[in-house]
Amino acid sequence: MGDVRLAPSLLASDFGQFAKTAAECRAAGAEFLHFDIMDGHFVPNLTFGPGVLAALRQRSDAEFDAHLMIERPEQWIEEFAKAGANRLTVQAEACIHLQRTLAEIRRAGMKAGLALNPATPLHVLDYILDDLDLLLIMTVNPGFGGQTYIPAMTEKIRQARTRLDAARHEILLEVDGGINGATAPETVAAGANVLVAGSSIFAHPGGVAEGVRSLREACRAG
Ligand code: DX5
Ligand code: ZN
Repeated sequence: MGDVRLAPSLLASDFGQFAKTAAECRAAGAEFLHFDIMDGHFVPNLTFGPGVLAALRQRSDAEFDAHLMIERPEQWIEEFAKAGANRLTVQAEACIHLQRTLAEIRRAGMKAGLALNPATPLHVLDYILDDLDLLLIMTVNPGFGGQTYIPAMTEKIRQARTRLDAARHEILLEVDGGINGATAPETVAAGANVLVAGSSIFAHPGGVAEGVRSLREACRAG
């Protein structure tokens, strides 16, 4: 199965403490830092832009994992590359020219990620596996943290893993939404190897470090 990487989602954290939170996540061993970029159009919520990544880039060596839940994401590729994003994930449902957008993300020097909403079928992948470095299976409908995992997504993760294993290069399989000590093990068993978690880490009574540790523990025990 290989190592599972954890990607705390800052959406669930204190927006006034991003630098401190980023340091805590890194110290706790989280490999990625997940930035939920929302424009109030693709999803009914508005968060932050590339300026937040640029400010944190000076203070963190974490892998910046930007999840663009925005319309016309192709217009923002250069901005996020300049801001220091390491990987840029676009929503399939927001891309008219998906293959070109993924190629442009790579040309800008970032890893290319594709996110699929729960109802979006996997055949979107049919002709673009060579253009992908990461597939993000949304396990909730995007827009907000603290939602409940959609159980039907476990089979979708399993089928996605089969497709990615047939690719000619490694493609990470990331899951995002309602990931906690109870749901993480079944997503890993189904083939996920990057777990995004917001509320299960940042609302943990023991604090961030304990939230990261217990999620990692749950993956091992599952
Ligand atoms: C939802 C975001 C997720 C969310 C995860 O649109 O893409 O990353 O922040 O939050 P939890 O882990 O609380 O479901
Ligand atoms: Zn996300």
